[in-house]
Amino acid sequence: MARLLHVDASPRRGRSRSNMVADRLIAGLDGHEVEQLALFDADLPAFDGAAIEGRYALIEGRPVDEAVRADWTAIGRMVDHFLSFDGWIMTVPMWNFGIPYRLKHYIDLITQPGLAFRVVDGQGEGLAAGRRAILVTSGALDIRPGGPMAAYDFQLAYLEAWLGFIGVTEIDAIHVRPTYGDEASVAAAMDRAYADVDALLSALSLPARV
Ligand SMILES: Cc1cc2nc3c(=O)[nH]c(=O)nc-3n(C[C@H](O)[C@H](O)[C@H](O)COP(=O)(O)O)c2cc1C
Repeated sequence: MARLLHVDASPRRGRSRSNMVADRLIAGLDGHEVEQLALFDADLPAFDGAAIEGRYALIEGRPVDEAVRADWTAIGRMVDHFLSFDGWIMTVPMWNFGIPYRLKHYIDLITQPGLAFRVVDGQGEGLAAGRRAILVTSGALDIRPGGPMAAYDFQLAYLEAWLGFIGVTEIDAIHVRPTYGDEASVAAAMDRAYADVDALLSALSLPARV
């Protein structure tokens, strides 16, 4: 059985389109344990001023200043929690072409040198390697890779870049979009996303090698 973390970056709970689609995915992942992390309800410590100096200390191989040691213990626990999972499901609405600020805050907290990545011979090495991330991205507009509005995507492109940086290369993306417009187009977008979930679930249940 795999342990998965569902990182939910939508504040819309039952009304969230990305979560409606993720619910179907999670329901189909028989035998997996899924922990929920609702970022808009989570207690994310401020990451500013002195706390940020701790990051520079770590990069330079110095100990973190005594004054922010407790902050860094909490940050270390958050990174350990994130890395303790076998994989991640992320529900991410597009906000102003990028990701919601609570998810950026979480990413800023956990992407720490020596904890989520390290630099070896000048090369970055992600410490989350060997695991899979499934992204369920939503948006009012039909901004999908390869589509006419693809240049506006700082959501999926950013998430893929960040996950790659921490070592995650097995990334699946389910698109829930457009979620705004006439009823028929929104219903079609939901049907397409549910069908993509079903196809992904079938693919995931195939043996890796036949
Ligand atoms: C603050 C804010 C900014 C948004 N910016 C965009 C955007 O840039 N592009 C887009 O396609 N949709 C945008 N939307 C619409 C949401 O992405 C859309 O409603 C989506 O379905 C929300 O996902 P959810 O229902 O899972 O929360 C924005 C919504 C909010 C609240």
